[in-house]
Amino acid sequence: MNRVTKAVFPVAGLGTRFLPVTKASPKEMLPIVDKPLIQYAAEEAIAAGIDELIFVTGRNKRSIEDHFDKAHELEAQLKADGKKQLLDTVQNVLPNTTSCVYIRQPEALGLGHAVLCAKQVVGDSPFAVILADDLISGEPGVLKQMVDLYEKHQCSVIGVQTVAKEETRSYGIVKGKLSEQRVYTVEAIVEKPLPEKAPSTLAVVGRYILTPKIFAMLENVTPGAGGEIQLTDGIAALLSHEKVLAYEFVGKRYDCGNKFGYLQATVEYALTHAELKDKFRAYLKSLKF
Ligand code: G1P
Repeated sequence: MNRVTKAVFPVAGLGTRFLPVTKASPKEMLPIVDKPLIQYAAEEAIAAGIDELIFVTGRNKRSIEDHFDKAHELEAQLKADGKKQLLDTVQNVLPNTTSCVYIRQPEALGLGHAVLCAKQVVGDSPFAVILADDLISGEPGVLKQMVDLYEKHQCSVIGVQTVAKEETRSYGIVKGKLSEQRVYTVEAIVEKPLPEKAPSTLAVVGRYILTPKIFAMLENVTPGAGGEIQLTDGIAALLSHEKVLAYEFVGKRYDCGNKFGYLQATVEYALTHAELKDKFRAYLKSLKF
């Protein structure tokens, strides 16, 4: 049986919705309390059994590579200062069984194009795609839930969530037939349809498990919504060759691609953070609105 051991993280986007903070820093490095978004995404992948992280990066994204690399000077300093706990934190950003690969996406031609950039590294295996700005808390993690489903059905699996009708224009939208609890057989998928044209309100959020057949599809996709090579269009093409499932995951998603979702995640993660939760709860209660 093919196992899912690789995950692709498209991180070349410009993050314009967060300017000016993203002028010189990647949006994936925005912290939720004390960890950057990209680390939550990497941890979710690792918890799903993935051991090869493939980042599709672009200009101004060096700090992502530095974050997952060894920090010799910092480690030496923390050791000299006897700061054992911080040293552990820095040394355990990734387990040492995990490897990282960085690929440059020379032009921001769309999510489908970013995934296609990973073709040589992924090769002929099933793989996950994680969009780090969709932060999802779940137990087990959402990607683990999806890998379990992949192992059962051996076909592509897309993470979905129901959204309000007026929001369909922000998502890939799936038309599917319920085949088991939370699982739909996908019949159609369209990128960012207007509410009146949307086939449903089941929206794709940033988690995918894809078979390698997707690459041949993406090679033939022409620019779609927003003039971009869309992953959604590649998946639509895949439907005429293979079964694709949509999975309504168990978990709470925060859309950290926009400021409001980012703030919600920050507040809620702070309220569960071992070191901060009591103090922060008391602080929020003390605020007068
Ligand atoms: C991308 C995908 C879209 C998906 C969304 C989830 O859009 O193209 O199909 O629903 O991520 O976050 P973006 O938000 O990058 O415009």
